Amino acid sequence: MLDLFAGCGGLTRGFIDQGSFDGVGGVELDRAAAATYAANFDPTGLHTYTGDIAGFTNVPSVDLVVGGPPCQGFSALGKRDPTDVRNQLWRQFVRVVRDSDARMFVFENVDRFAKTLEFQRLRDAAGEGGELADFRTQVFRLNAADYGAPQKRVRTVIVGSSIGPIAEPAPTHARRPAEGRDRWVSLRDAFAGGPLVLELPVRAERLPDRSVDFQGGEVPGAFELRELHVTRNYDLKSLIRYAHIQPGQSRFALPDELQYPCWRKHTKGAGDVLGRLRWDEPAVTIRTEFFKPEKGRFLHPQWENGGEQINRALTHAEAAVVQGFDARHVWCGTKTEIARQIGNAVPPPLARAIAQPVAERLGA
Ligand SMILES: C[S@@+](CC[C@H](N)C(=O)[O-])C[C@H]1O[C@@H](n2cnc3c(N)ncnc32)[C@H](O)[C@@H]1O
Repeated sequence: MLDLFAGCGGLTRGFIDQGSFDGVGGVELDRAAAATYAANFDPTGLHTYTGDIAGFTNVPSVDLVVGGPPCQGFSALGKRDPTDVRNQLWRQFVRVVRDSDARMFVFENVDRFAKTLEFQRLRDAAGEGGELADFRTQVFRLNAADYGAPQKRVRTVIVGSSIGPIAEPAPTHARRPAEGRDRWVSLRDAFAGGPLVLELPVRAERLPDRSVDFQGGEVPGAFELRELHVTRNYDLKSLIRYAHIQPGQSRFALPDELQYPCWRKHTKGAGDVLGRLRWDEPAVTIRTEFFKPEKGRFLHPQWENGGEQINRALTHAEAAVVQGFDARHVWCGTKTEIARQIGNAVPPPLARAIAQPVAERLGA
């Protein structure tokens, strides 16, 4: 398989874990993300193309192409802006699928992608009269929590195939346990029973001072998951704010004098801002700035209740665990770059579930 817009390689991780696939290479614009992909799947770095996909012309022959281009900027149906360069990314995906002679592809994106013009065009390209005329597409709307990740993250997944359809990836978990399906994995399960984190002290601020050589330059890393258990230095006023917010609550729980001035006027909307997670549920969708409580529902779920109150956002290590990564995955880049890689990734448990019926169709 070939991974386009590979990021840190969440898709590749899940597909390799399924057991039928070998990663033949990755294409990624961001140097730190490319270094992470290489550190995990391509030790020589020779099969990682670091740069704009438009320049990736030496396309290997593969069975499967997977990829999830960045989601910002997809135009809403009806709003055509052919000059928006980001609209070209799905075209590049189609080009590489064609040039690779792949028999199948998997295209992942945000939930709302299914309502965009690019979605329609991608489906049109894979079908009669299109550039991928031999292909037919299936669209799945999948929640990572249904596949064992401790996170509610709904994604649109388009599977293209020139060799027949696949079965819908079989959910293993459900909000309420049902026949053959366990209960969603909660944060408590993930952190307490998980590979690492709660036993470790949280490091103040900095990642270890180390770097790795990647394609002729240095990139910070490679860091192990436990080394990503880092937090920020919060000012006192922020800490006082966080101390008011119980699990499931958000900025609306703050007394008036602790509201940010800009919030006072906005009593509606952005309800998840400064939100605290709940122990007994999966997390909400992790985004690229999960380390800033002001950006969403990212406060650690521990709030008194018999234990120490933890007034900080999730650490990078906790966010990676919420995304379904384990201690095998190593990370390269600065704190901000690694957070972006984590927030952008396809949860490996979801990727692994998609890989299963794809492997069956390919006869792998
Ligand atoms: C949503 S992330 C992909 C995450 C990945 N599928 C995973 O599971 O970890 C999209 C990635 O596309 C990369 N990207 C954006 N524009 C690109 C371009 N023109 N060529 C190659 N990669 C690009 C971004 O740097 C980002 O890492």
